[in-house]
Amino acid sequence: MKLLHIDSSALGANSVTRDLSAAVVARWQDAVPDLSVQYRDLDANPVPHLTRGSLAGTNAEEAAKAAAVLEQFLAADVIVIGVPMYNFGIPSTLKAWIDRIAVAGKTFRYTENGPEGLAGGKKVIVASGRGGLHTGAPSDFQEPYLTFVLGFLGITDVEFVRAEGVAYSPEHRTTAIAEAKAAIASPLAKAA
Ligand SMILES: Cc1cc2nc3c(=O)[nH]c(=O)nc-3n(C[C@H](O)[C@H](O)[C@H](O)COP(=O)(O)O)c2cc1C
Repeated sequence: MKLLHIDSSALGANSVTRDLSAAVVARWQDAVPDLSVQYRDLDANPVPHLTRGSLAGTNAEEAAKAAAVLEQFLAADVIVIGVPMYNFGIPSTLKAWIDRIAVAGKTFRYTENGPEGLAGGKKVIVASGRGGLHTGAPSDFQEPYLTFVLGFLGITDVEFVRAEGVAYSPEHRTTAIAEAKAAIASPLAKAA
């Protein structure tokens, strides 16, 4: 089984979502001994933003990197993504990654009956961090966006491990992280 671990926080060692995504991956490593884990840190190693040249394929080096990102995504059975809320949405580094995995003819296509996702069968676990409280609120363009875009690609098995309200107080942050870790679902139950 192949697990792809992605982080997108710009807060380094002080990151809530890096802490949570690492905890999720550790649970999977404990539960699945032969698990193959690949890691991409989108802050330290960002994917280039799409430009006119990217779409035209004029830069061979960039095209090769984009193909590698898509291949790594397609090869993964499980994807764990650390995602902070930034300005009510996702970090632009993660959006740049999504722009490389949402590829017509590879991960989705349009048919006479509408769009069809081609990347189904994967499980995605999103380690989400938010300074405020947004669950179910109109301010949440982070988690619903991820649910929608992954669903568009055919991925419907999406779980959220969430610490929110982390900016309210240090105590609230500590409690939110502990509760999020305690709520991590059993990998074996889900993988069976
Ligand atoms: C640039 C930036 C923008 C942020 N925007 C929001 C926001 O719109 N809403 C919110 O509730 N928290 C916001 N926050 C707080 C983060 O979502 C929160 O600190 C979260 O834990 C970040 O995850 P991280 O610790 O893994 O980086 C923002 C933080 C940063 C650094």
